[in-house]
Amino acid sequence: MRLETLAVHSGFDCDPATKAVAVPIYQTAAYAFDSADHGAALFDLEAEGYRYSRIANPTSAVLEERVAAMEGGVGALAVASGQAALHYALVNVADTGGNIVSTPQLYGTTHTLLAYVLPRQGITARFAASDQAADIEKLIDKDTKAVFCESIGNPAGNITDIEEIAKVAHRHGVPLIVDNTVATPILLRPIEYGADVVVHSLTKFMGGHGTTLGGCIVDGGNFPWEEQPERFPTFNLPDESYHGMVYREHFGRSAFIARCRSVYQRTTGAVLAPMSAFLLLQGIETVALRVERHVQNGRKVADYLRADPRVEWVNYAGFEDSPYYPMAQKYLGGQASSLLTFGIVGGLQAGKDFYDRLGLIKRLVNIGDAKSLACHPASTTHRQMPPADQLKAGVRPETIRLSIGIEHIDDIIADLNQALGMAATASVSAAA
Ligand SMILES: Cc1ncc(COP(=O)(O)O)c(C=O)c1O
Repeated sequence: MRLETLAVHSGFDCDPATKAVAVPIYQTAAYAFDSADHGAALFDLEAEGYRYSRIANPTSAVLEERVAAMEGGVGALAVASGQAALHYALVNVADTGGNIVSTPQLYGTTHTLLAYVLPRQGITARFAASDQAADIEKLIDKDTKAVFCESIGNPAGNITDIEEIAKVAHRHGVPLIVDNTVATPILLRPIEYGADVVVHSLTKFMGGHGTTLGGCIVDGGNFPWEEQPERFPTFNLPDESYHGMVYREHFGRSAFIARCRSVYQRTTGAVLAPMSAFLLLQGIETVALRVERHVQNGRKVADYLRADPRVEWVNYAGFEDSPYYPMAQKYLGGQASSLLTFGIVGGLQAGKDFYDRLGLIKRLVNIGDAKSLACHPASTTHRQMPPADQLKAGVRPETIRLSIGIEHIDDIIADLNQALGMAATASVSAAA
């Protein structure tokens, strides 16, 4: 099935008990055992089935199967937020210590997780000078447990050359973990280019309506954990907390995702609520249509802003002179994301005036909603980063990030136009 069809159907046909065609919300904490032996078999991971919703839930299972199918993975784990997904994916590969090598263009909280939180757990982060494979390669050593990047950086809008970075990572025996939140599998499927694990904030374009937090980890199933038992002992040595079970032997290609669930989700419990899984599934059904409109509107907004003399610069990978234009051709079929950044004439103050005067476009910190959204990253999402790191992440003091929604393009442009006009007037009167 094609992506549009998978987004609507995969993981669920109809409810076997009632023939309901909408995915039921299994609002239950626990599941009955047939017998003591049945319970024991479930707890030993010997029998398939459900035991407690902190480990797995049938509504979330549909979501997991759907996202895994859309990304081309062997399995997935749905969790409470994108950050929970990132945390689980990174500790799952590096919880015996070591380092993660990352591109510098990251969502601010992910940078904080890598730069400040994981080091306290014995996992250090190394940020490359750029997203180029050669800069990544310089930082990989025998203690590296994974390479990490965002397929499209938020808000930098850089399109990472996943194929080249995967080659470099694999040459050094290391998996590549990709945050595919901004692209979605509709624009880009990282596993096809060599990524080993894909992580999502489903809160954004996938869910698409700004109603529900959720995250997902997808296991590509291709990384040969068994080839390096010393570097990746947790997949290859007996797990004492599961009666000596060896993940790679027991779960084969799904070892990574099985361990995420049975070690991290089970013991630390960042569980996605069944209702949230249901709401995210509703959103995913229309993601292909929405992304198409997001992309069209993003193009028109980028062209409009670039042509306007009140705008100083626009960062948009769909422009032929963008350094990421070739990557947009290679990975996004010539399209570019509806997430774009720009700065207006008059710098920081003019930018703030513009921002304060937006009407239709909401001032907030989210992306990927059906609604158009605007954010000032330096004062919000990337506030915790030192200014030099902000610049490397694509955030200047005056940067405004737009996530263009699916409204009528004329209404979006009318709002930008009035806010720009008033910002220009405000800056002129301030100067006078
Ligand atoms: C690229 C990216 N990854 C992860 C996240 C975190 O997602 P969540 O808010 O669902 O935890 C965000 C949030 O903005 C993001 O933009």
